[in-house]
Amino acid sequence: MYSKETIQQFQANSSAWLKAGSKKINKDNIEELRSILRFHEHRYYVENDPLVSDFEYDQLYSILDQFEKEHPNLVTKDSPTQRVGAGLIKDFPKTPHLVPMLSLENSYNAEDLIDWDRKVKELSALDQVTYSIEPKFDGASISLVYENDLLVRGVTRGDGEIGDDITPNIQQIKSIPLSADFSKHHIQQIEIRGEVLMNKNNFKRYNETLMEEGFPPLANPRNAAAGSLRIKDTAIVAKRNLEGFLYHVSFITVAEDRKKEIAHTHTEMLQLLWNLGFRSPVKEMKVVQGIEAVIKEVTAFEQTRDSLPYEIDGMVIKVNDLALQEKLGMTSHHPRWAIAFKFKARQATSTLLSVDFQVGRTGAVTPVAKIQPVHVGGVTVSSISIHNKDYIKEKDLQIGDRILIERSGDVIPQIVKVLTDGRDGKQKPIVFPTQCPACEHPLFKPADEAVWRCTNINCTAQVLERIIHFVSKDAMDIRGLGEANIRKFYEMGLITSIPSIYSFDVTSLNNMEGFGAKSITNLRQAIENSKQQPLHRLLYALGIRYVGETTAKTIAQKIDNLFQMGEFTEEQLQQLEDVGTKVAASIYHFFQNKDNLIMLRELEALGVQMQNNTPVITEGNLSGKTFLFTGTLSRLKRSEAEAMVEKNGGKILSGVSSKLDYLIAGEEAGSKLEKAKKIPSIKIITEEDFEKMLST
Ligand code: IVH
Repeated sequence: MYSKETIQQFQANSSAWLKAGSKKINKDNIEELRSILRFHEHRYYVENDPLVSDFEYDQLYSILDQFEKEHPNLVTKDSPTQRVGAGLIKDFPKTPHLVPMLSLENSYNAEDLIDWDRKVKELSALDQVTYSIEPKFDGASISLVYENDLLVRGVTRGDGEIGDDITPNIQQIKSIPLSADFSKHHIQQIEIRGEVLMNKNNFKRYNETLMEEGFPPLANPRNAAAGSLRIKDTAIVAKRNLEGFLYHVSFITVAEDRKKEIAHTHTEMLQLLWNLGFRSPVKEMKVVQGIEAVIKEVTAFEQTRDSLPYEIDGMVIKVNDLALQEKLGMTSHHPRWAIAFKFKARQATSTLLSVDFQVGRTGAVTPVAKIQPVHVGGVTVSSISIHNKDYIKEKDLQIGDRILIERSGDVIPQIVKVLTDGRDGKQKPIVFPTQCPACEHPLFKPADEAVWRCTNINCTAQVLERIIHFVSKDAMDIRGLGEANIRKFYEMGLITSIPSIYSFDVTSLNNMEGFGAKSITNLRQAIENSKQQPLHRLLYALGIRYVGETTAKTIAQKIDNLFQMGEFTEEQLQQLEDVGTKVAASIYHFFQNKDNLIMLRELEALGVQMQNNTPVITEGNLSGKTFLFTGTLSRLKRSEAEAMVEKNGGKILSGVSSKLDYLIAGEEAGSKLEKAKKIPSIKIITEEDFEKMLST
């Protein structure tokens, strides 16, 4: 939607605003700053290709926000600041759709599609039809109404005729424009249909937070998106990072003689939406002639399903010509001009056979259901976490129940529901233990949590799980000490605690099944190498509650030595980025615990690096400059080149933004090079130029 020149203009203007800070803003140029912010939001949320860093965006945003707070009379409805702050919502008023929201006819195989194509051809008296194919987004459907360029309403599907007005929540979705230039096309009112999604990454992270806080996770991103849209606090909705795809215009008021100028085909309509700033599936869609080509496409697309960042449950095939769509019309249930091709289900039914209780590294006792093995979403599932007592109650789970399970994407399988109709009276309630299944210590449930815990710090199961976490891939990454081996060595008494990993006699594994001389040498080397892991990995490996990888990284940047952590008060810890009250309390108590300090001293004595060993930037000819390598280098290895930058005082950036000074472009440089070309301040140089810089 933005031309190359406009992009360059926005870049230059952004730099000027960043340089001038809050000095520049006044009532005459406030709209310029708003358009810059909208431009960057579009780059980030619609195009997935930001041109400034998050920090720079935040700086620009706060210039506007502060000025608007000082001059509330200058605030406009579509100002980027108006996404936040709607506050608490009382209710979601029932609202009729301008045009009923219909469903889609479903197809499951080539035959179904051929049948449908035959009907379309009959009704349209054509030999061959042009079809568009696009993903069938698996989220919550919504309907948006814009009047005089402003978003006035966002409504859920409801019963198809009447939905709930959730406008304040829709305004939190950054890829949905608060205003768009419809008047340029003489459109006064328009109703647009689409889907709100939570992408797989955000869903995974959201479920992790839920579980960390003792809540059961959600079965799929669709439930997460639909649930988020019903939250009555817009600030929470904003944090869910929802996304919106728009794929259909259901109603439009435009002068009759202008109608033809809008769009002749579905493709053109999606392009128009895209040009106006909406995330429509223009990049994902395909246009083909005839149903055979459709069949080929949808079959091929199913293979790439998992590589998409969001869930889709099929493809939607649409007659591309809008006049023909009108001619074909609708039944009371679905349009005749479209059909959904459903992918293989990721749900399956099974039977809950028994429940095991597993003790985690923090003492949480998790019930795990053993189920009749069943193939779902490409894997065989035979056990499935049922989280906690509340979850069991909420789902009304009993041993012997038929259950519906789902495995969406790479998310761990979940129970969707019990098929209660199948109960035959033989079902038995799930009885929760009162004592730790590993050490028999009485279980305890903190008042504010849903999880029962074993509070015996020396509980054998907890110790084992802590060791498994310590050596795991994202922690100390000791290859050769996989979970199965750790369990074996723990049972044999070879490894008894975290420090014992560094003191146990590796040679004693000689003659053990699966351990030859080579694997013993490799294991010894892996253990030795892990002593030099960066401090943030060690911090994460300790398994302090609520300290995930990101938090560990942030904290590790602030300290020179792990023992410094013991000197922080809870208040000081809270000052750190990423650290809230809960995290601070957890870290504080970990470092106040004498046993933990003894363990750390033992690790230190065994040679585990406790210092922050991130390279100290030396002064050199690249001091103060930032660099990024892209493409294939011919003389240097990428890692060597990056090390040279750091050795000479320069800094490596992870992406292209206006913070970057030099992009070193090797062979077959791709999108990073294209992006850098649009930012005038970046110098694009060759590998030879870079070597010259080092030597001068
Ligand atoms: S077109 C008038 N296109 O799937 C028909 N629908 O199961 C407009 N959906 O009701 C629908 N992706 O909520 C269309 N690319 C897509 C879609 C899509 C998801 C939803 C939509 C529909 C439901 C039917």
